[in-house]
Amino acid sequence: MADQPHLEPLEASDFFPNGMASRPLVEGTVARGHLRIDKAYFEGQVDGKPVEQLPWEKVATALHLDGSPEQTRAHVLERGRERFNIFCSACHDQTGSGQGMVVQRGFPAPPTYHSDRLRAAPDGHFYDVITRGFGRMSDYADQIPPADRWAIVSYIRALQLSQHAAASELSPADRKALQAEAPAP
Ligand code: HEC
Repeated sequence: MADQPHLEPLEASDFFPNGMASRPLVEGTVARGHLRIDKAYFEGQVDGKPVEQLPWEKVATALHLDGSPEQTRAHVLERGRERFNIFCSACHDQTGSGQGMVVQRGFPAPPTYHSDRLRAAPDGHFYDVITRGFGRMSDYADQIPPADRWAIVSYIRALQLSQHAAASELSPADRKALQAEAPAP
């Protein structure tokens, strides 16, 4: 087999008029795994508008999770926490208030995530900021694959809730713990 007459990839050849052994790709050819027609998932937008809710099921599939919805959420959130602390906390700090170490050393401060505007922003906005950057913040499209971007979005939502939740939204156990900690009226 190895000794058969054959052309190596990209070798010159006088067989075809353009002198190349390798044939040009048929127009419209898409490499396996690169058919990104699902705009909501890959771009966080539909018709130029950010999607409201992160696509949990697709993220779960991409991260090879097959547990219950609760397990999936816990896993995605944990993944998001890890990725956020690696890629974002240097500027946004671990709570999202925007006072990370790089900012303390002079980099322009990002806005806090705990503003009414960003609490009301759709999930797709955060995905878009990671994918395309925002103002002075560069994008992270090359470093962070789509499923991890969505995982980070889920964690930003958790950070926002951690600073802005009504006591009535807590589980009974958490409410009890909160009451135990609160000073007596
Ligand atoms: C090197 C510092 C730096 C890092 C790292 C960084 N950001 Fe930012 N981010 C900024 C700055 C600065 C701004 C404000 C940009 C502006 O308004 O010009 C910003 C703004 C934002 C905003 C607010 C957009 C708005 O609507 O106002 C979001 C959301 C955000 N970043 C998310 C992230 C996420 C998620 C990561 C990690 C994947 C990340 N950032 C990593 C510096 C950083």
